[in-house]
Amino acid sequence: MARPAIAIALPRDEREPVAEALHAADLEPIAIGRPEELEALLGAGREIAVAILDGEQDLDTSLEYYALLHEGGRDIPALMVLSPRALERVGVTHAGSKDEYFTRPYSVESIRWRVEAMMIRRLAVDDGSGSVIQTGPLSLDDWSRNGTFVAVFNPKGGVGKTTIAVNLAAALTAMGRRVLLVDGDTVTGHISSSLGLEHVRTLVDEVIDAHEAGVDPPEALDDLLAAHPSGMQVLVLSSSPLRTSLLDPARVAAAIDTGRRTHDVVVVDLHPDYDALNRAVFERADRILVPVTPDVPALRAAVQLRDVATALGFADRLAMVVNRANSGVSVADIERTIGMPALALVRSAGLQLVKAANEGRTVIDLFPREKVAEDFRVLAEQVVGVPRAKPEGASRLSLGALFGRRREAVRA
Ligand SMILES: Nc1ncnc2c1ncn2[C@@H]1O[C@H](COP(=O)(O)OP(=O)(O)O)[C@@H](O)[C@H]1O
Ligand SMILES: [Mg+2]
Repeated sequence: MARPAIAIALPRDEREPVAEALHAADLEPIAIGRPEELEALLGAGREIAVAILDGEQDLDTSLEYYALLHEGGRDIPALMVLSPRALERVGVTHAGSKDEYFTRPYSVESIRWRVEAMMIRRLAVDDGSGSVIQTGPLSLDDWSRNGTFVAVFNPKGGVGKTTIAVNLAAALTAMGRRVLLVDGDTVTGHISSSLGLEHVRTLVDEVIDAHEAGVDPPEALDDLLAAHPSGMQVLVLSSSPLRTSLLDPARVAAAIDTGRRTHDVVVVDLHPDYDALNRAVFERADRILVPVTPDVPALRAAVQLRDVATALGFADRLAMVVNRANSGVSVADIERTIGMPALALVRSAGLQLVKAANEGRTVIDLFPREKVAEDFRVLAEQVVGVPRAKPEGASRLSLGALFGRRREAVRA
């Protein structure tokens, strides 16, 4: 069966570039010139996922398109493209509706992004109960007590879990917190080497030795904690994926949990899977930070995680961290797509991250003045519940917008 298509009923000069961008993203664009064409498509049973309509130039025709999208029990979401001024005139608040608005001028990448987001939302399970995760400000009060257990997880690799876990731990340490960083990625974990810690004794080593000596492994983790020069302590679960089967997931999670007694924050980096160890960690964690990069595979993975978390009952503990956030994709779009509020943003900083890892350090220690270090500090403050007041720049920005609007009003 053909894949669901994206109908593009935009003015002629916009149709082609938008279709090309969607096609390049492996979507199925169909350019539409007249309502009869859309009618014929739908009549032939072609599934349309989203229709991009012009909300401005020929309103009568757009209304015809819109009617077709809702005829005969159909409910195809429309993406209305219009100018900011026209949007203001429409004055829509489209709560509850699947339709969305998009303002000119736009880049084809941004419209492609929005269409993909609409398609992901369309596929995401919707049981009618609305967003699973609250989209208002996060309540952080229960974070601030000592001994917070924070897991970092997204079922997709390469989104920045390890980077965020390590630098969050470093930022918390620099704030004077006692931090235990746990490398819980028993398959591809490399925290100890990236922090320049050699010959770290792992939890698996301990379990094997105890087994060979015919004794129970010790309950406390103290002997296993490696000290990083920054002040944080590091626990590595395993240095070989082959030996992980020796670990009893529930006991490992319980052992990590005891870190709360001696540390202010326990940060656990995980391997991207839903295996027993990770599920045992999810059960105990106070918060699960979900790094998301602004690309469709990472977003899909986060939507999947949200659904899994809902099924397993920990959706209310998820909080997204947008990584490589300065890519031009709107954070609001990402939040709406995934249904998770963003706790913090981390910008791209490949050079600093690589340099720091080469030296066995973190960007917090090596590049404390770089903007990316500041991003991690803001994240750390959110995690321990002491978010700082809005910077002055923010209020200036909104004042500027206000003045801009006034000038508009005067001119109009
Ligand atoms: N904000 C960022 N800017 C630049 N590079 C990043 C950023 N975050 C992660 N990376 C790089 O992306 C790669 C994957 O990151 P990593 O933290 O190992 O992801 P994961 O643990 O989710 O697999 C690494 O090479 C890392 O240095
Ligand atoms: Mg990793």
